[in-house]
Amino acid sequence: MQIEQIISDINKQLENELREIDSVQQLEQLRVRYIGRKGRLTLLLRDLKNLPLGQRALSGKLLNEKKQWLEQTLTQLGQRLALSGQRETPFLDYSLPGRKSGVGRLHPITQILNDVVDIFYGMGFEVVSGPDVETDYYNFEALNFPLDHPARDMQDTFYIADKVLLRTHTSPVQIRVFEKRKPPVRILAPGRSYRCEAVNARSYCVFNQVEGFYVDENVTFADLKGVLGTFIRRFFGKDVKFRFRPSFFPFTEPSAEVDISCIICKGRGCSLCKNRGWLEILGAGMIDPNVFKAVGYDPERYSGYAFGLGVERPALLKYGIDDIRLFYENDLRFLKQF
Ligand code: DAH
Repeated sequence: MQIEQIISDINKQLENELREIDSVQQLEQLRVRYIGRKGRLTLLLRDLKNLPLGQRALSGKLLNEKKQWLEQTLTQLGQRLALSGQRETPFLDYSLPGRKSGVGRLHPITQILNDVVDIFYGMGFEVVSGPDVETDYYNFEALNFPLDHPARDMQDTFYIADKVLLRTHTSPVQIRVFEKRKPPVRILAPGRSYRCEAVNARSYCVFNQVEGFYVDENVTFADLKGVLGTFIRRFFGKDVKFRFRPSFFPFTEPSAEVDISCIICKGRGCSLCKNRGWLEILGAGMIDPNVFKAVGYDPERYSGYAFGLGVERPALLKYGIDDIRLFYENDLRFLKQF
């Protein structure tokens, strides 16, 4: 048989045998089979002297090259096996197509939050964040919640320990900022809030709020109306109507809730707005003097407004989604649509 044919057979066999190797023992056995004392290549080299003179030089060259190549390959493979303790084949198939890596995107709630923040940022608000785990003092007491207020009940609030809880709203950020700074302060505080509520299509135990507040000399309810009106027009569109409805919050006086004309029926009445024509989107008011007293601001000198906007509701409206739970299930089929 021609030497080229012999080498080609050896190559084919070696390729298969090398691929099978997944231990140092197997590697050693292969080495003995080919280049041990009675190995295949060793014997072929030893038999060179029996070949006709004309074939000896070429055969010797090819056989020696193969032997060297095998020695090198086995040394490398041995090092890798020793390193990883596992099989690692040098025969990678580089012709296989690559795996596509998915492109990430922002969660719809994050997108809405960014839109809201952008609008208020444009009106001079600074963005600040506060902790999700709060104490009773920041979440309730300093915000003028009476001790027997129902919101303090275990039914509504997730308690972690005595007087330690998951914040039920972003309003405690007001207190944290007031403690550290002197007016004027104009702040936007987006973040998660938690309430121990039954989970259904309309409410969830976690939600996002954006707290906004402005304290300075001579801040009035008219300033609040101006800022919120601008926000509503920019966020929901020019044609949306809004109204301030008297309400109550312990930390504001007077307090209001703000409704917008229903985006679906334009105020005529539908199932979304329960035929009222209006949708509530936020709470607001003038900061109660008791809050100023708790943080050492002079209520005779300073006044301020505050508002708290839920984010999920506007997101549902904007995207036409009818189940709030979808935002938290992280189903990629849902998330990929935004
Ligand atoms: N913290 C209130 C809530 O979660 C929302 C709110 C109402 C915030 C009035 C305010 C405000 O800053 O002035 O229901």
